[in-house]
Amino acid sequence: MQVHELVARCAAAARGNDSMDAVREVMEDLRGDLGALDRALEFIPGVGGNARQVFYRSPDLTMLKVCFPCGRRTPPHDHGTWAVILVLSGQEKNTLYRRAEEGLRTASEVILERGAILPMRADTAHVAECVGDEPALGLHVYGGDILELPRRMWDPETLDEHVYEPSVYEAFAQAASMAQRAPQV
Ligand SMILES: [Fe+2]
Repeated sequence: MQVHELVARCAAAARGNDSMDAVREVMEDLRGDLGALDRALEFIPGVGGNARQVFYRSPDLTMLKVCFPCGRRTPPHDHGTWAVILVLSGQEKNTLYRRAEEGLRTASEVILERGAILPMRADTAHVAECVGDEPALGLHVYGGDILELPRRMWDPETLDEHVYEPSVYEAFAQAASMAQRAPQV
């Protein structure tokens, strides 16, 4: 498989009515030959910020190879659209939140390993963290232009809601990574 074939499959799936479910089905199929997916994405370092990780970007679909270094934890955030994650290596713990009338409520926690798939609807917020002793690498697919969509993020210490802004997000991520665990509410 070449990267353009991977993009074409996800782009075709995302054109349908339930685009998240259709992309999840593509991911389930890809799981049958993860080695081929590894090779197709080998050229992407997976580090250096979103701009270097994105290998396809359009108004209705973004695809990235994402790397969470050991100990890295995000603040709670949403994506402004649906997302589907397929973990390629390492262990990625996800804490999922639903939007409540006031702020967030913890909904569930899951630890994802190679081959695990996590779909998230647009109203889901989450914290992702690398919990193993190697970086967590994953294929992330979003139902919009993730670099431009309006998004929300939450201060990991106060859980105050903010408009997503990259430099503030990074400060929140550093504070989140210092904490014992993802916020429980
Ligand atoms: Fe995320």
